[in-house]
Amino acid sequence: MFEEKPLSMQNRVKTLASEAQAQNQPYAWFEPLYAQANGNADQVPWAKSAAHPYLQAWLSEHPQPAAHSKALVIGCGLGNDAEALQAHGYQVTGFDVSPTAIAWCQQRFPNSAVDYQVADLFHLDPSWNQAFDLVYECRNIQALPLNLRPQVVGAIAPLVAQTGQLLVVTRIRPDEQECEGPPWPLSPLELAEFEAYGLVETDRATFVEGETVTVQQARILYQYAQG
Ligand SMILES: C[S@@+](CC[C@H](N)C(=O)[O-])C[C@H]1O[C@@H](n2cnc3c(N)ncnc32)[C@H](O)[C@@H]1O
Repeated sequence: MFEEKPLSMQNRVKTLASEAQAQNQPYAWFEPLYAQANGNADQVPWAKSAAHPYLQAWLSEHPQPAAHSKALVIGCGLGNDAEALQAHGYQVTGFDVSPTAIAWCQQRFPNSAVDYQVADLFHLDPSWNQAFDLVYECRNIQALPLNLRPQVVGAIAPLVAQTGQLLVVTRIRPDEQECEGPPWPLSPLELAEFEAYGLVETDRATFVEGETVTVQQARILYQYAQG
């Protein structure tokens, strides 16, 4: 599941991310990365040929949602996870800040029922507030620097409908552990920030992966506390 990428690719990503951060545009590097990949998914470090295995496992353990249930896929990348959720029965919107990524999704899945949109997590349409029965966040928070964490959590949490769920797939680290990203794994204190929005962790699966480098990952489900 965890596939260690060649050092050259890891270094390229770190260089692109730190250049973007130095210009105070911490997510400006995604679009050039997708554009430079020029249609070759091997050049996109996080690309997988199928939906993320932790999402696939979660879907296989859950029945189809009620008719017309809506799912939102944050930072949908090349679209595999959005397609898996749509196939499971959700009406899916997938968005990404990268126009090349979104055009790539549309090209890969020309007959898809997923609504793919170019959008910036930090400037979403207010009509999306509390509009989704399932909000799916996979590996995007960890791709953004630590100083943005409160804003990222504050942008994601309000998207979840009052009776909805938030599913997060992420690398995790202990609170005291420093990290040099990307990726910047999430710590318990950072994850707890979702609770400030009324979301409560109701399920967690943890995974340890990797051979030369050990990576701790988690799939966490949040729901609003029922009053
Ligand atoms: C590490 S990739 C993960 C992609 C996908 N979620 C996955 O797991 O394969 C991070 C994604 O977030 C997108 N992204 C970064 N900043 C964003 C923002 N502000 N709004 C929307 N998408 C963003 C990037 O373009 C990229 O596709």
